[in-house]
Amino acid sequence: MAYLCKVLALNDFSFEFAGRYLFKNASWHIKPSEKIGLVGLNGTGKSTLLRLISGDYELREGTLSKPSDLRIGFLNQDLLSMDVGDCVRDVVLGGREDLVHLESEIDRLIQKIEIEYDDVTMQRLADAQERFGALGGYEWHAEGDKILEGLGFPTSSLDRPLREFSGGWRMRAMLGKLLLQAPDLLLLDEPTNHLDLPTIQWLEDYLANYEGTYVIVSHDPYFLDRTVNRIAEVAHQQVFHYKGNYNEFLEQKEERDALMMRKYENQQDYIRQQMKFISRFRAKASKATAVQSRVKMLDKIEKIEVRQDERKDFDIRFNIRVTPGKVIADLKDVTKSYGDLEILKTSQAQILRGDKIALVGANGKGKSTVLRMVHGSEPAGGIIEQGWNVESAFFAQHQLEALNLKNDLLSELATVSAEYTDWELRTVLGCFLFTGDEVFKKVKVLSGGEKSRLALAKTLITQSNFLLLDEPTNHLDMFSTAVLAESLIDYAGSCLFVSHDRTFISKVANKIWWIEDGYLKEYPGTFEEYNEWNSQRVAEDMRLAKLDDGKKKSASAAAVTANKPSASVGAVAAVHTSSKSYSKNEIKKVEDAMNVKEQEMNALAEEKTALEVQLHSPEVASSFEKVARITESYESVNAAHAMAKAAYEQLFEEWMMMQDS
Ligand SMILES: Nc1ncnc2c1ncn2[C@@H]1O[C@H](COP(=O)(O)OP(=O)(O)OP(=O)(O)O)[C@@H](O)[C@H]1O
Ligand SMILES: [Mg+2]
Repeated sequence: MAYLCKVLALNDFSFEFAGRYLFKNASWHIKPSEKIGLVGLNGTGKSTLLRLISGDYELREGTLSKPSDLRIGFLNQDLLSMDVGDCVRDVVLGGREDLVHLESEIDRLIQKIEIEYDDVTMQRLADAQERFGALGGYEWHAEGDKILEGLGFPTSSLDRPLREFSGGWRMRAMLGKLLLQAPDLLLLDEPTNHLDLPTIQWLEDYLANYEGTYVIVSHDPYFLDRTVNRIAEVAHQQVFHYKGNYNEFLEQKEERDALMMRKYENQQDYIRQQMKFISRFRAKASKATAVQSRVKMLDKIEKIEVRQDERKDFDIRFNIRVTPGKVIADLKDVTKSYGDLEILKTSQAQILRGDKIALVGANGKGKSTVLRMVHGSEPAGGIIEQGWNVESAFFAQHQLEALNLKNDLLSELATVSAEYTDWELRTVLGCFLFTGDEVFKKVKVLSGGEKSRLALAKTLITQSNFLLLDEPTNHLDMFSTAVLAESLIDYAGSCLFVSHDRTFISKVANKIWWIEDGYLKEYPGTFEEYNEWNSQRVAEDMRLAKLDDGKKKSASAAAVTANKPSASVGAVAAVHTSSKSYSKNEIKKVEDAMNVKEQEMNALAEEKTALEVQLHSPEVASSFEKVARITESYESVNAAHAMAKAAYEQLFEEWMMMQDS
């Protein structure tokens, strides 16, 4: 098939915004039929990279080579660019532009014949119809409907204009269009952000049978593990390549990071050693040459930088202005329906001060509706009483769409309340990782994760004591999600949130809510406890079903193994002092031995560096076997280096002692 011979190559490319390089001399090759997960922290440049490939951005440094007829389909993260007046069905069918044209050509020819028959037109019509059939025109509408159904569009909604839909649904329609189009290279920027679990699973299955090449940006490890066979990671202005799925990537990345860290620590040790020598003998005339040569050597050293992936300064503070009463919200006999669709039957629930409740389950069950009802922004049957002094704040994905693209960060945050000074606003933005000049960035240029952080900042600056959060971790990378979780745990107020992120729920929630058979239910415990209880419930149901069959089985007790922490014993180094004086000869002997060890150490360090360079070269990084082989050599050279260094240090100490005596 055509796409099998298409390859795209970005070579030695650099890309910057206002002097800030997102990529520097990076390379990326996309090979035929690769299914690539593009990962990296928020703001590292994933969406930008897709825009470079799609041609939205022009590459000025480096080269991008691709066949001129390569068909690229790009689902971008910017929901607002999808403001279309056509109905949903037409938007999706429009994915096959060739068929749209042919169909209108056929219509035109039929009309012409109806007015006046002629053989030439008839022949043209027959040709057009044949081409239409050969291109799959007769299955086209059915395929479009299948996709729309898979993406969760109710049949009744297909004739509504796209612009009447929320951002999430617009995104689904554009995804449908691309899937129908089936380009040679499909670029999907965070496609699961607006999908619920059943739709995510449908998409996973669809992609499993997809024949073309695709690149998917996602922060969802579960989704990536099911859909990709390669990972490309954007970090440190480079694109790193890994074979395998997300889990395998994590293992290889851990190794790579550990290696970088060891390399860095070794160099730091070496520098410290030399600095010690320099400062110790700076004033000694007899050591002037040795000191000089070490100063020169340090100047020449190419410093290894370790850019930590962890951004320790992302620290969200959730202050509350007033302490509320003990009951935050009381739901009495609450019901909800949309026309014939019943969301909630008569249900009761209470939210108490300090509760962090996760509302879980598939979309379409009404989780967001319940959230809005508790917030008071959606009418409900029954009574929902807000507690005394409760100040609530609501966060949902549409807050991202409501951001004013023309504002800069500072003025956007200032729209929440006029009572904050610029300095206070900057402090809040700092907590959300926007520092220095970044506060003057326009909302328009923000990455998905950055927009999410800004919208979260707008919610939290209100200092409310009750947060209602609808999928707050969408767009956030794993690190930001973890920090948001920590901050919510420390939050003095209460919180009701909807999330599909299992790790996030486990960390934050002390109670679980879900909707079952139309009733709102509560489990008064953590997500783990809820899951255990739930699986026992399912097992019990199965056991009862089996009992009905007359078969009895005994339950087996689960064995619990406890991990005993092993005690570590710190070695205490004895410090010897000596009043002995040494002969020149004795000192010379130690100096000679020191020189030998130093040379040995330097040679081994060079060897280590060479192996590290190899290990990070694209050819090696893309082959697991090569990485394993070179890592093995590296380990042994590293061990030899560590031994040489220990010996050198011992000699150095000895020699210092001789000098002092
Ligand atoms: N036109 C622009 N001018 C200035 N800065 C920009 C522009 N477009 C993007 N940026 C900045 O470049 C960085 C990378 O943006 P990009 O959208 O590529 O990140 P990303 O890796 O996709 O992040 P996310 O995971 O949050 O979606 C961000 O800090 C963003 O604010
Ligand atoms: Mg992005």
